[in-house]
Amino acid sequence: MRSLIDFDQMTLEEWGELYDLAKDIMDNPKKYADSCKDKLVATLFYEPSTRTQFSFQAAALKLGAKVIGFSGTAGSSVSKGENLKDTIRIVAAYSDLIVMRNPSEGAAYAASLYSRVPIINAGDGGHLHPTQTLTDLTTLTALKGGAGGHTVGFCGDLKNGRTVHSLIKALVRFPGNSFVLISTPALRIPDYVKKVLEDSGASYREENSLEACIGDLDVLYMTRIQKERFESEEAYKKEAGVYILDAKKLAMAKQSLIVLHPLPKVDEITDEADEDPRCRYFDQAEFGMYIRMALLLTLLKEGKEASQPAWPRSNTDKSCGNPRCITKTEGYLPKLEDNGRCVYCDHALI
Ligand code: CP
Repeated sequence: MRSLIDFDQMTLEEWGELYDLAKDIMDNPKKYADSCKDKLVATLFYEPSTRTQFSFQAAALKLGAKVIGFSGTAGSSVSKGENLKDTIRIVAAYSDLIVMRNPSEGAAYAASLYSRVPIINAGDGGHLHPTQTLTDLTTLTALKGGAGGHTVGFCGDLKNGRTVHSLIKALVRFPGNSFVLISTPALRIPDYVKKVLEDSGASYREENSLEACIGDLDVLYMTRIQKERFESEEAYKKEAGVYILDAKKLAMAKQSLIVLHPLPKVDEITDEADEDPRCRYFDQAEFGMYIRMALLLTLLKEGKEASQPAWPRSNTDKSCGNPRCITKTEGYLPKLEDNGRCVYCDHALI
């Protein structure tokens, strides 16, 4: 049984099978009501969540599985200083699969090194959020007929938005996509995501103005400015409120545009724009539950023992240059590299 740390681990054929299963679950929910009735899913949310946490819990319960876990660490022994590897070893002994969100980048990969059951990455700091990517791909497939052939605009906090990083990495694998990256200079996408775009050969451009490009887009992926990732309130305030999607901007967009947002949103979409039928983020969140049902069913069906992630890695003496990497707080972790980058969080080693 595998862990899901990054969408990259999945072939496009596996993605297609997962989507087909999610579609069948949507069409025939009763057929799946008892399909995981002897299984127990643990949801470990070290960070706040509404959609990811509750959609995974709802998904597990709708498949007949049981659910344990924590929502915030205050009631668990993490608050007494228990490290990640001990928590994971213990919870893996009690459950068949662990869904984990953690504020440190690379935490899900680190957890998978110590777990005998699959780990699903439900968000590791500002790094990746692969099941949001599955949600987004499901939405594009259901509403636009597929995940390729689109001009996709990403707008807002492209530096800290893990959903953006995961989705760009996935969308470059589908033919015919081009990208418009709309942000202030301070919140541009990280270099490692830019490298993914460059290596893929996909067409992309960076923009400061949403008005200047909204008319070109088939998909607009709005994001929240991630206040919790800024060093100070003052630094956050400099970036907040720059991009607001309103009815005036939507009037410049194609009728066939769809607006997505991983949610939660704060002030980046007005209440008036919210009512525009092209805004599909509430449908998107609902699709998320079905694709997570398909993912749980697939991983739980494969058996109890998990294998470690398969991507290339080798030991190194170098350290990760990312201060938010899990290796900075969990000192026992082996130093691992793949082509000069940190295997946990993808940043350059120094
Ligand atoms: N999209 C998303 O991850 O939402 P939550 O933070 O509410 O889980």
